[in-house]
Amino acid sequence: MLVRYETPADIEAIQNVTSAAFKPMPYSEGTEAEIIRKLRLSGDLAISLVAEEDGEILGHVAFSPVTINGVHVGWFGLGPISVTPERQRQGIGRALMAKGLALLKAMGASGCALIGNPEVYSGAGFSSDGQLTYHDLNTRFVQRIVFRGAAPSGTLRFAPAFED
Ligand SMILES: CC(C)(COP(=O)(O)OP(=O)(O)OC[C@H]1O[C@@H](n2cnc3c(N)ncnc32)[C@H](O)[C@@H]1OP(=O)(O)O)[C@@H](O)C(=O)NCCC(=O)NCCS
Repeated sequence: MLVRYETPADIEAIQNVTSAAFKPMPYSEGTEAEIIRKLRLSGDLAISLVAEEDGEILGHVAFSPVTINGVHVGWFGLGPISVTPERQRQGIGRALMAKGLALLKAMGASGCALIGNPEVYSGAGFSSDGQLTYHDLNTRFVQRIVFRGAAPSGTLRFAPAFED
């Protein structure tokens, strides 16, 4: 399996994998594929990676700039991330996260944040110290990994594509 940057030829497969992965999820509003499309259009798709095997796209992850207390301080958000349902829990998500985080770090990013299930992301190094908030969500689900500088505190906001 290869994890690589998206190309224009992958766009439809990314939409399909994303829709299929999120469809059964009770917390999904079914907007994730559209969010990726909007990120791409607005120039906020900082990193977009696909997992490919034998020419088939099995997974995808997006990274985009975030603000903390209204300021972009070199932090990025992870998500949406998806793996095709029949290939979940085989390490593909972990490989996508690892490559994306390594690329962010190499770019000089200060850190990466996300909203999600700690069971899925702790193995990749994410954790919550309760200092980063997202609306009134339990901060257990607001996780981050610090690459450099102090751990951030404040209100996390994702790119406009997540809010339209
Ligand atoms: C979330 C998702 C991207 C993870 O990808 P994956 O290839 O299935 O995950 P991996 O096999 O690489 O496992 C990564 C970690 O997540 C854990 N994990 C994966 N699916 C999980 C689940 N449903 N519940 C709890 N933990 C889970 C694994 O145990 C592993 O933990 P570890 O690193 O501590 O060993 C994938 O399951 C998916 O597409 N889910 C549907 C869409 C979704 O919910 N996206 C995330 C929204 S927050």
